[in-house]
Amino acid sequence: MDKPPPPRPAVIVHGGAWAIPDDEWKAHREGVARACAAAWGVLAANGAALDAVEAAVTLLEEDPTFDAGVGSVLTRDGVVEMDAAVMDGRDRGVGAVACVRTIRSPFRAARSLLHAEHVMLMGEGAERWAREQGLATCDNADFVVERERRRFEAMRAGAVPADPRAAFDRRPSGPPPTRGPRGTVGCVAIDRGGNIAAGGSTGGTPGKRSGRVGDTPIPGAGLWADNREGGAACTGWGEGILRMGLARTAVSHLRDASAQDAAWLSIREMDARVSGLAGVIILSRDGSIGFGFNTPRMAVSYMDGELADPWVIGNDR
Ligand code: GLY
Repeated sequence: MDKPPPPRPAVIVHGGAWAIPDDEWKAHREGVARACAAAWGVLAANGAALDAVEAAVTLLEEDPTFDAGVGSVLTRDGVVEMDAAVMDGRDRGVGAVACVRTIRSPFRAARSLLHAEHVMLMGEGAERWAREQGLATCDNADFVVERERRRFEAMRAGAVPADPRAAFDRRPSGPPPTRGPRGTVGCVAIDRGGNIAAGGSTGGTPGKRSGRVGDTPIPGAGLWADNREGGAACTGWGEGILRMGLARTAVSHLRDASAQDAAWLSIREMDARVSGLAGVIILSRDGSIGFGFNTPRMAVSYMDGELADPWVIGNDR
């Protein structure tokens, strides 16, 4: 019997799915392409999928373009609260943190929980854990950029619609999109050994209540990875993604659909079942890539051994 072909290393990165304005589109496209190149550098040097995901996500956490780490949106109390997670497809291991305020890289904190005593820590407990692990911390104000401070003031003055779905909406009849990133960042990678990892990091939705947890740190919703099937990471309106279990749904479709079809099928299902507004990136266990979204735009970049440079989504859908 013919042996199956060896797994092809590949990586796909997203930087949010929402009504990204024209004047922010270039920065989003360049940011995801940079992150994708960093992750590919790890894979091309025979590195592990988990390290590739870390390379991409931590770069995006430091890029103020995106709603993760520096550049995160503010809660209605005027502070940054972040969620992050990583999933290891070898054993479905998960590490996650939620509602953290001073951990410089929420993703690194999540990874430090992978294969630890607990899957997820939140708030003060997560902060204490990060300090015990020797992870870098900073002031909450260090995550706040001027764009988000202005948005917060506008929101307080009632100038921005309170409906968190507004910024993701594609419907002409929907509320007008508000400006600024709502872009969770995420990455899925497969290495030469066929190991799949998925991860993400986010500041959540602007004006969220303190203590709100979105899809990003929740396995099955914001991310999924299983070497036997594939991996996925999601972005967009977290409440819809959570109700849909979008990442798990997308990966389930890989049983009888291509990676690209699996992505679109899961988005269509979410649209029909919960009126969600989101995007998903997906990798199958053979290294095939897919993505789908029902928002006006999604920042996506991918790379594999067949390409000379990371592919980045074009100017139009
Ligand atoms: N998708 C990010 C969030 O809703 O928190």
